[in-house]
Amino acid sequence: MRPWKKIPYSRQSINQDDIEAVCSVLRSDWITQGPKVKEFEEALAEQCGAKHCIVVSNGTVALQLACMALEIGPGDLGLTSPLSFLASANCIAYCGGTPDFVDIDRATLCLSPDGVRRYCEEIKIPKVVVPVDFAGIPADLPGLKKLSEKFGFFLLEDAAHSIGSTYQCEGREYKCGSCHHTDLAIFSFHPVKSITTGEGGAVLTNNDRLAKKLRLLSNHGVERGVSRFLSKTVNYWDETTGWSSSPWYYEMQALGFNARITDIQCALGISQLKRLETFKKRRQEIVGIYNEAFVPLEREEIVTLPPWPENTDPCFHLYPLRLGVNSTVRRDDLFLELRKRGIYCQVHYIPIYRQPFYGQDHERDFGRFPETEKYFAGCLSLPLFPDMDHATVQYVIDAVIGLLSPS
Ligand SMILES: Cc1ncc(COP(=O)(O)O)c(C=O)c1O
Repeated sequence: MRPWKKIPYSRQSINQDDIEAVCSVLRSDWITQGPKVKEFEEALAEQCGAKHCIVVSNGTVALQLACMALEIGPGDLGLTSPLSFLASANCIAYCGGTPDFVDIDRATLCLSPDGVRRYCEEIKIPKVVVPVDFAGIPADLPGLKKLSEKFGFFLLEDAAHSIGSTYQCEGREYKCGSCHHTDLAIFSFHPVKSITTGEGGAVLTNNDRLAKKLRLLSNHGVERGVSRFLSKTVNYWDETTGWSSSPWYYEMQALGFNARITDIQCALGISQLKRLETFKKRRQEIVGIYNEAFVPLEREEIVTLPPWPENTDPCFHLYPLRLGVNSTVRRDDLFLELRKRGIYCQVHYIPIYRQPFYGQDHERDFGRFPETEKYFAGCLSLPLFPDMDHATVQYVIDAVIGLLSPS
């Protein structure tokens, strides 16, 4: 029997605590720009160990603001992984910069540091590199940091998939989003991600100057702190309080946006964040069950399992299964057959360089990305979310094995 009418590739997990947290904000005085925003920022900064966190309305705007804070502009090159959502490249283009792509590393499915090094040596040094922790697997951030020091580019971690993931480096453990090896990082809290606020995102950094800029840019470029006002005309010197200004005064110092997130959303985020470790454990459990079930198919090279690099402890956002050389079933047929059985898989992702917007503009040669092309030809993300019970996981396994096993 099919346990769910439609089994999505991912979905939110909402409990009574989440509902009560949201309702209590609705009963309070502040439904936006209130105390829950600061509380969520502090909780996120503590979770990943970054000094500053600025929460915003979604992950896309988080990336855009991060690029603006780095002053990406016309003539600047930004490199990212083609195996990502569009926003990882668009953030560079929003600022007038030029995005380009470097192939993925087979072992992580994330941006290849070796590819970035070759690009810097043979083509051009970018102003920013945006590695993506694909599926929750941390990109090789320490490797990329070494390159950023050598070539002088900024590093912006797209951690939209990887809140809760960790990686080891020289005997220490680091959290994705900690900015230990990067200048900036972003999260997304869309409902398919590991924790949700409905829509939402965050930018993290350990750099005080970037944090100040991000705060300004996320709220119309408006400054309200007296000590930071640029205009002297409305300020006056008060013997007891120092520089003062009328309480109604504010200054627009940059062309920012309304990228604000509400207290209603932040209350949900705070409540969800408390269960991040539980979500991570359940996601890893499901990945473990899938892996065990599909090992015999992998041995016959009918499928390839998702990577789980040794030095990482991923909070898996996706379960990207790949068809192997001995599969007699095409990916698109598998996709359709699973759909008939109520299993709604997804292809993550169409490589960004294949999008007409990028391909036509730059006449990109797909042959530059052999690993991404190979991955894209056979990938399919199976359902993975914490509320999947054992019967649902088994239903998916039986369907996949039934369709792929040689008869
Ligand atoms: C890797 C990646 N980066 C950025 C984003 C953008 O996040 P949001 O949907 O919150 O704007 C997404 C969302 O799907 C994503 O998967």
